[in-house]
Amino acid sequence: MRRFPLAAAAAAFLFALLPLAAAAATSGGKAKAKAPAAPPAPPNITALMSKGGCKAFASLVEASPDALSTFRSAVEGGVTAFCPADAALRPFMPNYRNLSADGRASLLLFHAVPVYYTLAGLKASNGPMNTLATDGSSRNYNFTVQNVGDQVSIRTEASGAAAARVRATVYDRDPVAIYAVDAVLEPVELFDPAGAPAPAPAPAANVPRASGRRARHRSRHVADAPGPAADDDAAPADQRKNAKKNAAAGAPCPRWLAAVAVAAAAALV
Ligand SMILES: *[C@@H]1O[C@H](CO)[C@@H](O)[C@H](O)[C@H]1NC(C)=O
Ligand SMILES: *[C@@H]1O[C@H](CO)[C@@H](O)[C@H](O)[C@H]1NC(C)=O
Ligand SMILES: *[C@@H]1O[C@H](CO)[C@@H](O)[C@H](O)[C@H]1NC(C)=O
Repeated sequence: MRRFPLAAAAAAFLFALLPLAAAAATSGGKAKAKAPAAPPAPPNITALMSKGGCKAFASLVEASPDALSTFRSAVEGGVTAFCPADAALRPFMPNYRNLSADGRASLLLFHAVPVYYTLAGLKASNGPMNTLATDGSSRNYNFTVQNVGDQVSIRTEASGAAAARVRATVYDRDPVAIYAVDAVLEPVELFDPAGAPAPAPAPAANVPRASGRRARHRSRHVADAPGPAADDDAAPADQRKNAKKNAAAGAPCPRWLAAVAVAAAAALV
């Protein structure tokens, strides 16, 4: 008997909260609508490259299990790929065939960064970037994005002044962007630095790097990739993503339902 007024008070309190919960649910409507939707199938990155004029590069990725699986898992966290157009890849094929399987996979993974960039985002990002081939400090595999006027270019220590230029947007839908470039990106880890005479001895720094390459752990690529080079650019995007995730996780809908359930239960006491 004495418990009844307490239960009634609790019910009244919870019912008083309902309009607040409902208001919160309305304002959080976007997150509420997104949460239950089944995630769309991840885009087939090699199929998109093929369609965008990078058929030969896409075939190489599909023929390298190591590269293909890393590309696929990178799609989930956000990725920007730079695929050499068929005309650019053809003359490079003798050099490609000369690489070991490990070198081939690294070269392919060198053509993507683990951050989603719109073209406008790229144009605002001058500087070094880590790639999917980067692994900790033993495998730098970084390149430098350079913007001159409206032209986005990618330079490596092996390319020197002959930078690859972004020629077309093949695909751009958050979190995946693919741009066609007019040259193969040559990592200095696999090719002589620009300007060095062909038979010149490799820089001393190349020796430990070569052994690090063998000791690598491919599965760590994606986790390790956004290193110091990419951190500044990655942070805002990641924070936005996390904010989105938190909004979805903390959607007021379940809280609202719980309030109704508790209020109903209290009313029955
Ligand atoms: C992606 O597309 C290629 C054709 O370009 C196809 O061979 C491959 O099976 C597709 N992969 C998936 C996971 O659908
Ligand atoms: C392939 O490698 C061999 C031995 O390292 C070298 O002599 C040859 O020039 C290379 N060919 C190409 C096309 O890079
Ligand atoms: C990029 O790689 C080069 C050589 O591999 C290395 O010397 C340099 O420190 C790296 N830069 C960054 C910002 O990681």
